[in-house]
Amino acid sequence: MGTSPTPDPKKPFLSDIQEIRRRARKHIEKGAVTESYKPDLETSLRVLNEALATEIVCVLRYKRHHYMASGIHAQAVAQEFLEHANEEQGHADQIAQRIVQLKGEPNFNPEGLLMRSHAEYVEGTSLLDMIKEDLVAERIAIESYSEIIRWLANDDPTTRSLIEEILKKEEEHANDLSTLLATLNPEGK
Ligand SMILES: [Fe+2]
Ligand SMILES: [Fe+2]
Repeated sequence: MGTSPTPDPKKPFLSDIQEIRRRARKHIEKGAVTESYKPDLETSLRVLNEALATEIVCVLRYKRHHYMASGIHAQAVAQEFLEHANEEQGHADQIAQRIVQLKGEPNFNPEGLLMRSHAEYVEGTSLLDMIKEDLVAERIAIESYSEIIRWLANDDPTTRSLIEEILKKEEEHANDLSTLLATLNPEGK
């Protein structure tokens, strides 16, 4: 047998650090997006912009419901709607920030907003209607965010954990709304 060096199977992971740094420098203009960014970036940005549109539509719907519920003297429910509106606004901001980190552009264009959004804007006529519509919208958000999380899998852990955090909040919202529904409409009519 010759004496040629055999590759060390225990070669430390960090020995590639110089290559990682070289690549990071080479594409410095890409900001947080490195060559190890696995998902299709264009698809990620489209998916995130759809999530952004969903959050904006939810802010608008909750705001409308907040003011309408205030008008019919349902202060506790109106307060709940306002809290949700503010939290959806926070989600929209977090998503927009992530889009910029990925060197994309957050789409705030009112044109086509509803087309991009997963959830709908339904005004609702009665207090019960509003709560039901909000619950439907939350359930849609829960489904589409779960789908996004499955799609991202382990390819973009930062976006994934952001969406997971948001999903957790949407589940709380859905739970709040079904509690309200059960309280206001115990027969489930
Ligand atoms: Fe949200
Ligand atoms: Fe929500």
